[in-house]
Amino acid sequence: MQIKTPEQSKTILTDMVLPGETNPLNNLFGGELLARMDRAASIAARRHSRRIVVTASVNHVAFNKAVPLGSVVTVEAKVSRAFKTSMEVFIDVWIEDRESGERTKANEGIYTFVAVSETGSPIAVPEILPETDLEKERFVAALRRKQLSLLLSGKIKPSEAVELKALFE
Ligand SMILES: CC(C)(COP(=O)(O)OP(=O)(O)OC[C@H]1O[C@@H](n2cnc3c(N)ncnc32)[C@H](O)[C@@H]1OP(=O)(O)O)[C@@H](O)C(=O)NCCC(=O)NCCS
Repeated sequence: MQIKTPEQSKTILTDMVLPGETNPLNNLFGGELLARMDRAASIAARRHSRRIVVTASVNHVAFNKAVPLGSVVTVEAKVSRAFKTSMEVFIDVWIEDRESGERTKANEGIYTFVAVSETGSPIAVPEILPETDLEKERFVAALRRKQLSLLLSGKIKPSEAVELKALFE
């Protein structure tokens, strides 16, 4: 199977924040942002695997900065690591200043997708080769995040989370 790069899965969704998508403080509703991240990440996972993909877990989301009504929001998703049938997708969320056009990082999320067959059985995905320093950093840490996610969901025992345990030794 052909080895791919994170760049090949890069997916960018740019959209505005409209009144029906906000909370009582007139900032983007968290669930709306999660949906936008899920959509971009799912396209990135599909581009990497060229398969049907399903969201297996949301590993991490940080709502660091409120996104006000009327903001232009860019959601950028890239596969950060491919395992056997699963892929970690890193999502960076940016907002842009109306006058200067300068971009500020507002939020980020890390989702896991699994490639599946027409009948929903997990199916192997291509390997990934990170290129930039940031891609390499995210690639290495992805294994620990996978172990943490599997541990929290009760799918592996603490003794199996070898790389994760090594962080505390
Ligand atoms: C995701 C799904 C395909 C996994 O099926 P499964 O029977 O648990 O399959 P497996 O145990 O073989 O796991 C498949 C892969 O997912 C990974 N995985 C499963 N649960 C995970 C979790 N919570 N966190 C991280 N990875 C997970 C496994 O480690 C495995 O990865 P690998 O093959 O790359 O090593 C299945 O649970 C499913 O279809 N869930 C519903 C998905 C869905 O509908 N999402 C939309 C939300 S409404």
